[in-house]
Amino acid sequence: MSEVTMEKIVSLAKRRGFVYPGSEIYGGFSGFWDYGPLGIALKRNIENLWWRMFVENRDDMFGIDAAIFMQKQAWEASGHVKGFSDPMVECKKCKKRFRADQVGDACPECGGNFGEVRQFNMMFKMHVGATEDESAVSYLRPETAGGIFVNFKNIIDSFHPKLPFGIAQIGKAFRNEIAPRDFIFRVREMEQMEIEYFVRPDEWERWFVAWREEIFMFFEAIGVARDFIHESEIGDGDRAHYSKRTIDFEYDFPFGRKELCGLAYRTDFDLSAHAKASGVDLSVVVNDVTGEKVIPHVIEPSFGVDRAILALLASVYTEDTLGDETRVYLKFNPIVAPIKAAVFPLLKNKPELVAKAREVYTELKKTVPQIMWDDNGNIGKRYRRQDEIGTPVCITIDFQTLEDDTVTIRNRDTGVQERVSTSLLSKHVLA
Ligand code: GAP
Repeated sequence: MSEVTMEKIVSLAKRRGFVYPGSEIYGGFSGFWDYGPLGIALKRNIENLWWRMFVENRDDMFGIDAAIFMQKQAWEASGHVKGFSDPMVECKKCKKRFRADQVGDACPECGGNFGEVRQFNMMFKMHVGATEDESAVSYLRPETAGGIFVNFKNIIDSFHPKLPFGIAQIGKAFRNEIAPRDFIFRVREMEQMEIEYFVRPDEWERWFVAWREEIFMFFEAIGVARDFIHESEIGDGDRAHYSKRTIDFEYDFPFGRKELCGLAYRTDFDLSAHAKASGVDLSVVVNDVTGEKVIPHVIEPSFGVDRAILALLASVYTEDTLGDETRVYLKFNPIVAPIKAAVFPLLKNKPELVAKAREVYTELKKTVPQIMWDDNGNIGKRYRRQDEIGTPVCITIDFQTLEDDTVTIRNRDTGVQERVSTSLLSKHVLA
């Protein structure tokens, strides 16, 4: 078995329509990537599974989709205007800038000396509306969490939940990273899936432990190898400004063990700060008899979609020998596979086979929309192509189909084929 490298993953992702470099015809744009047809299908499948698992399958969770822009006071209150920064150094000679914690003593470009370490705020600063003065300043959100905290009161007022309960959101977040790198690992425009789980202050440890396990369960569900995920306790001084305890879940990426997602105990930092800055009471009643109120504390599991996709691609990328041919295939769990099945007529130039194959394809698409028609090249080439994009099964319509309405289903991982009736197809595909 040969090594899984970033070169192999990036090349397959581009060649087969998963992820393209941003603004590619203009030479690319550092930190920005575009998802192609298979990439967006994969991304949606992952997000849908997350939403089903953490929102729809529970009755203590509320999903929202907040605006990306918020009043700048919200980012001042949350501490991001002051503290959401990375240490940066500038080379005195070539003026290039680097993250201070990622370079040595000399400039890697020209060997020059660095100036003083400065803090660089990673929020993209924008002007909203036609005026460009300070009053019009806002920021592209650097985490989706912000929109959750400012909607806390809305959820309480509309649904009256009791603690503990959570608010979940999936959406874009933006960070002006000093050094975007490693494909979709560190980008400037990303997608996050976040939960703020509100608890009684004295119960935070219990819920922190519970969410640790939920995180592993999610990665197992999408098919990221558990053996490759490691917990790392973040020490005092290294945690984000709002956190009293953080565990980074790290993955063994081809370029090293790096953060995949995080779990933080944000205390009542955010709700208290927003209550103070907005003047709105964000406490909740925890005892109906005494009327005792508290500002809830919060446990935050925070997932980066792009990193989940990268970890998944690295997990499922497989090279093996099938028959006497070597091949590359993506061993996707069918639930996340962008294409669940491919349908082929055995021969492209036999109208009766093509017509029957179209009929089977159209019927199957009604129950399994993520399927693909393929009649290009010979059957061996079609199998290789589908293997490379991780399609779990290929369905071939041949002359026997015309007689008894059975088709062959070929399994991606084993290459083994079986004959099944067309009436049972959707069950086989979804299995
Ligand atoms: N709300 C908490 C929060 O945003 P974070 O550790 O800064 O915490 C959470 O980010 C997750 O978002 C990370 O674990 C990672 O998966 C993803 N993420 C953060 N910055 C990223 C970047 N520049 N590119 C890709 N993903 C990123």
